[in-house]
Amino acid sequence: MIINLISKTVHDLNCPTLVVFSKASSQKEKSAEITLKDLAKHYSAAIEDKSITGKANEVILFRHSNYSHYKNVVVVGLGASNELTHEKARQAAAAAYDALKAIKEKEVVLHFDGITGSASQSAQYMKAVVEGLQLASYNFEELKSKKSETPKLTIHISSQHAADKKVKEAFHEATVLSQCVNFSRNLGDMPGNLMTPKILAEKTQAAFKGTSVKVQVWDKARIKKEKMGGLLGVSNGSDQEPRFIIMEYKGGKASEKPLVFVGKGLTFDCGGISIKPSASMEDMKYDMCGGANVIGSVLAIAKLKLKMNVIGLVPATENLVNGSATKPGDVHTARNGKTFEVNNTDAEGRLILADALSYATELKPKAIIDAATLTGAMVMALGNIHTGFFTRSSDLTKKIDHAADTSGELTWRMPLTDQHVSDMKGTFADLSNISSGKGAGSATAAAFLEQFVGEGIPWVHFDIAGTAWAVGNRLNYCSKKGASGVMVRTFVELAKNLA
Ligand code: BES
Ligand code: ZN
Ligand code: ZN
Repeated sequence: MIINLISKTVHDLNCPTLVVFSKASSQKEKSAEITLKDLAKHYSAAIEDKSITGKANEVILFRHSNYSHYKNVVVVGLGASNELTHEKARQAAAAAYDALKAIKEKEVVLHFDGITGSASQSAQYMKAVVEGLQLASYNFEELKSKKSETPKLTIHISSQHAADKKVKEAFHEATVLSQCVNFSRNLGDMPGNLMTPKILAEKTQAAFKGTSVKVQVWDKARIKKEKMGGLLGVSNGSDQEPRFIIMEYKGGKASEKPLVFVGKGLTFDCGGISIKPSASMEDMKYDMCGGANVIGSVLAIAKLKLKMNVIGLVPATENLVNGSATKPGDVHTARNGKTFEVNNTDAEGRLILADALSYATELKPKAIIDAATLTGAMVMALGNIHTGFFTRSSDLTKKIDHAADTSGELTWRMPLTDQHVSDMKGTFADLSNISSGKGAGSATAAAFLEQFVGEGIPWVHFDIAGTAWAVGNRLNYCSKKGASGVMVRTFVELAKNLA
């Protein structure tokens, strides 16, 4: 798909199809509004008989429209005019994309002005519309022998603000962000046999070609030398070698502390000796989405040339069962010297993150942000609606809330206390990888991670187990079953807030 931003009016552009938006009136008995005033007159009958209601994501297609030179007009609802948000615009744009795809459109004009009346809000709404279109256009067909025959679509966004600096920047940012989210989604959607730790590292190296980011990949021998006992311990059970991926972006002064992202890169998690049930085990190819989304975030930060230093770390391995696999009761030593008993081999994400967080600490960062599909308990707590995050820092919490409000992604702060830490004490080693208490499985996992973060470093852990895939039932710009790329948009925003 190609999207152009053009200052010409819809009457000056020559295309067969026009997309416009409608809004439901804030008073129930009143009729819907259409963002293009003379079109409102043209469709007054349809508005009057409530064929057009302006309801959120309503799509009404008028063929042989006889409006200006347009053959087709697609009217897309934004919901009540007094409840408009950029997220509603993002979803309306995605609904428009789906309709255009269904009618196999090739070239359309989208009327942007009037979505928001305020010129100052145009930039954030432009960002939302472009994201909605680009994110909705993602598909994962590369493993099918027969591809769907969707023609390449060109969308001309017509706006009187097209030449405004802020609007142009928003357009560019949305394009980069969506490309990076779609890249992360692709990594996540790849099956385990085609997304091994080695392949993940190679795809990362390829993605950063042409950017200023230095990518280093450590193999098993190097990981051993670096004393990453957690990552090695988990990889023991697999024939595939682990990898430790380091992405280094220097957009700030040399003296400036880096912001470090860490992502769980478990390319397949069968649970190890504490094996998972077969039902839905195939979903565990998504256990590297924390890593994939960190890679996408660093890629976006580099492409947007943010003026700051950022490092991304992704420990990557499979969690499988062969004769060398870690057994329940085994003790391993993490990079920072702390020992842990592996009392359940399925609680493996925290073990590989332990080494990565220890390494992140050595980089003397200004903050550490990690993302992981860490616990089933997170799915129980928040479903696929909010991403839960754990931090002791109220300052970081404020920045996260602000970043998520701006990106449109939903997050929720979860508790993390000394009591959760006590539950993770080991019997024969410093720590146990499972809690001695009942419940609070996501908080105790976070408490385990905290043991590997240096004193005084602001740190936040995002458990994306519920939101990393299969969120399409509530977000129309995400696929029904596939990876969501969740938190890439928020992480880039958060990075800006921490720059
Ligand atoms: N990758 C899983 C967590 C997960 C489960 C993510 C479901 C997404 C959906 C993780 O490695 C795991 O298995 N965690 C265990 C920990 C338990 C043994 C303490 C879990 O949550 O059951
Ligand atoms: Zn597991
Ligand atoms: Zn896992």
